[in-house]
Amino acid sequence: MSLEKVKKEIESLRELIRRADYQYYILSEPEISDKDYDDLVKKLKSLEGKYPQFIVPDSPTQRVSGGIVDGFSTVRHKVKMLSLDNTYSIAELKEWEEKIKRMLKRKVDLDYMAEPKIDGVSCSLTYEKGILRIGSTRGDGQVGEDVTTNIKTIRSIPLHLRGLNLPEIIEVRGEVYMKKTDFEKINQERTKAREAPFANPRNATSGSLKLLDSSLVAKRSLECLIHSFGLAKNYSFKTHKQFLEKVKLWGLPTDSHSKWCKGLKEVIDYCLYWEQRRDSFQYEVDGVVVKVNALVLQDELGTTLKSPRWMVAYKFPAHQATTKVERIDFGVGRTGIITPVAILKPVECGGVTISRTTLHNFDEVRRLDVHEGDTVLIERAGEVIPKVVKVITSKRSGKEKAVRIPSRCPVCKSAVAKEKEEEVYWYCTNIDCPAQLKRSLIHFASRGAMDIEGMGESVIEELVNRKVIKSVVDIYVLTKNDFLKLPLFKEKKANNIIAAIEKSKDRSLARFLYGLGIKHVGEKAASLLAERFKNIRYFFQLKKIDLEGIPEIGPIMASSIVKFFSASKAKKMIEEFKKAGVNLTRKSTVVKKGKISGKTFIFTGELKGLTRSQAQRLVEENGGRWVSSMSKSIDFVVVGENPGSKYAKAKKLELKIIDEAAFKDLIKR
Ligand code: IVH
Repeated sequence: MSLEKVKKEIESLRELIRRADYQYYILSEPEISDKDYDDLVKKLKSLEGKYPQFIVPDSPTQRVSGGIVDGFSTVRHKVKMLSLDNTYSIAELKEWEEKIKRMLKRKVDLDYMAEPKIDGVSCSLTYEKGILRIGSTRGDGQVGEDVTTNIKTIRSIPLHLRGLNLPEIIEVRGEVYMKKTDFEKINQERTKAREAPFANPRNATSGSLKLLDSSLVAKRSLECLIHSFGLAKNYSFKTHKQFLEKVKLWGLPTDSHSKWCKGLKEVIDYCLYWEQRRDSFQYEVDGVVVKVNALVLQDELGTTLKSPRWMVAYKFPAHQATTKVERIDFGVGRTGIITPVAILKPVECGGVTISRTTLHNFDEVRRLDVHEGDTVLIERAGEVIPKVVKVITSKRSGKEKAVRIPSRCPVCKSAVAKEKEEEVYWYCTNIDCPAQLKRSLIHFASRGAMDIEGMGESVIEELVNRKVIKSVVDIYVLTKNDFLKLPLFKEKKANNIIAAIEKSKDRSLARFLYGLGIKHVGEKAASLLAERFKNIRYFFQLKKIDLEGIPEIGPIMASSIVKFFSASKAKKMIEEFKKAGVNLTRKSTVVKKGKISGKTFIFTGELKGLTRSQAQRLVEENGGRWVSSMSKSIDFVVVGENPGSKYAKAKKLELKIIDEAAFKDLIKR
């Protein structure tokens, strides 16, 4: 096939895939089967693999970039992303209409768009000449995070708008969310993998959008619906209804439940209708957003510093229920924190049966003044775990029992104390407390840390109860015989778990650091630390000041890291891990030494002969490293066509800027 023909074939495959996406995601009227769709993608991937010169960033195959980023750069919103005023009753909604009518100072019949208020994460998408350039979070409304690579994995967001006469630049805004069924599935998987479940679909969405590996985001089934816009260069809409219809034609997803309402009466009917049926949405909806339809009137009403005057939210009441606190139990966490937990008489709240809820800490117990035997009002606002809103004191009989901070740990009976007087938490003072040890082991073996398959809660429970394991390092001295003594363990299962333990010795330094369970150090911080210090031995010399220069590591985390490694126990423990053969260094891939060793690269704009991930891989293979957020320590800024905001930043920081040809030269040298 001639190159010209290949190019044509590639373009026609892309068009077929885009059309199928549009039919499926926007019109909900798929025209081809999943299998035919997969075949098209496979064929396109194979052609692009053979002819990488034809890869373009908005090809449907480029949804997952393949690289792991070490943070997100920031984007300044061209038009500020405001917040929304809330109303909590129909009376308040009516007052809002009266107020805006007064402001308009003449008699006008207002029509509105009423839309579900999706409880997700707001995002901003910038399309330039129809091509998706930037996807960002709201941030503080002025500056958000550039999460383009993650946004691109959301299949319902087109990388390329359809049709002619597109605006030169349009920045649309919408809500990224996770369907309730997908959220449940993810939480089930997380629980199985011994990872903490997400509290609600919003947190799951926000956590997913901020993952540093876009291939993981692609697996999170995120969705998006467009509800507004910021900037529309050389383009105007007459009404909000027209905006929604137009963007739908361009292939952007909009909410089919939105309704044009002739007047407030219809808006109120809409609010009350959906308030009764809020659970029928596939996603969490916490109210209705009411928008004045005509853009001229929107402009006339304008905005306050915080929010537009021409739109308002009608919030649905949270799911609430009353029940009795049967007793208050105390749990012991990984770091020894004693947590009061209210055990409730089971009650239904928004479709879920609730029988316990955390009270977080003893300050909260005091604030609520909750007693054993009290009747309480609980509330579930999109969360799986409800919270206690208040005690219904009128229901007290006088027999209720006040909660006392236990003087002894409920598990090991050691003394309970605060680390500092001003802290809210009380801790079990015994660092060898079996409850703490169990939690630490569960965390160490979990999927995000050392990922030891088979080392689940029940196995850990048995090993600790039988005193076979007295510290986390003891995992590595376990023998097959130790497992054969446990219930349900036979030869094969014991062999498998021993093999899994052996395999875990080779995990990355980042996972090991995370697995240590250092207070405040999550997965992201652990990988930054591993990247920066490369060998565990350097951690023992760390001072707070060495850590504070690292973005994302604040003073509290820095103190916690220094404190952890300065304890003599830590040194001893790490020595034991070393003796057991656990990897304690950051392993780098085998690289051709010399060329650009130690140099840091950042890319912006489109490269012609290489995809972004191919270029990044070349950097790694030649001994360099690449980053995706701008900083003074970058050695080379490789600029392709249509560079983003990084280009301007690079100039401002006076960094060395090179083009693609110079980059290839560097690699060849
Ligand atoms: S319009 C002024 N329409 O609710 C910003 N927002 O609580 C309002 N939201 O940040 C933009 N559904 O992310 C609009 N149909 C909808 C919405 C919606 C959910 C979010 C939006 C905003 C938040 C405010």
